[in-house]
Amino acid sequence: METLSPVRRKRAKPLPSVEIREMELRDVPVVFELGQKLFTAEEWPTLYRSWDDHELALLFSADAETCLVAEADGKIIGFALGRVTEKPRSAWRYGLLMWLGVDRRFKRSGIASRLVRQLTGLFIDRDARIMLVDTAAKNHAALAFFRRNGFGQEIRHVYLSQNLENDPRYIERNDDSEDDTDD
Ligand SMILES: CC(C)(COP(=O)(O)OP(=O)(O)OC[C@H]1O[C@@H](n2cnc3c(N)ncnc32)[C@H](O)[C@@H]1OP(=O)(O)O)[C@@H](O)C(=O)NCCC(=O)NCCS
Repeated sequence: METLSPVRRKRAKPLPSVEIREMELRDVPVVFELGQKLFTAEEWPTLYRSWDDHELALLFSADAETCLVAEADGKIIGFALGRVTEKPRSAWRYGLLMWLGVDRRFKRSGIASRLVRQLTGLFIDRDARIMLVDTAAKNHAALAFFRRNGFGQEIRHVYLSQNLENDPRYIERNDDSEDDTDD
């Protein structure tokens, strides 16, 4: 695994040596906790997927080899979680970068770039021809990051929502369940 220490930008403290390695089962709770700090519900209100322990466990159990972490001084400070997939009616394989995050204290130190570079190599080893990412349009940091790291051909996608709480069926259902609990 890669063990370069990036010394790229001005920092108050020098960056410790950072190792990029495959994620292990024991890392799952730490990665989950770091993700909770980075992917808050307020900032990601419309994403069709949300950061939860179930999603993380599924991703890790489906393809642990394309889940990477960055570690410094024995602490996990970043992660890139992906998987390779095939689309229906397409002969191509795709590398999906599902979740990417770096501890805010280590921002702009080149850590996400290293994670993505290494993940890209793993996708290529698995015959992926295209790598896909998605993020909220207002996530300017992530967009700047992805553009800087070779992603383009941007397609905008609109999420719509409807509050179901005013639907009579919702109201009826919830009235019923309240009655049940009264018994
Ligand atoms: C987006 C994110 C992963 C970037 O991680 P990082 O380790 O800081 O990124 P790097 O240091 O490798 O940045 C490489 C380049 O990306 C661009 N970039 C990264 N963060 C940026 C920011 N906040 N504003 C503008 N450009 C930015 C810059 O071009 C940067 O190079 P530079 O520092 O020499 O200018 C990190 O900010 C993060 O964890 N964000 C929250 C989670 C998230 O949005 N994940 C992405 C969607 S899943």
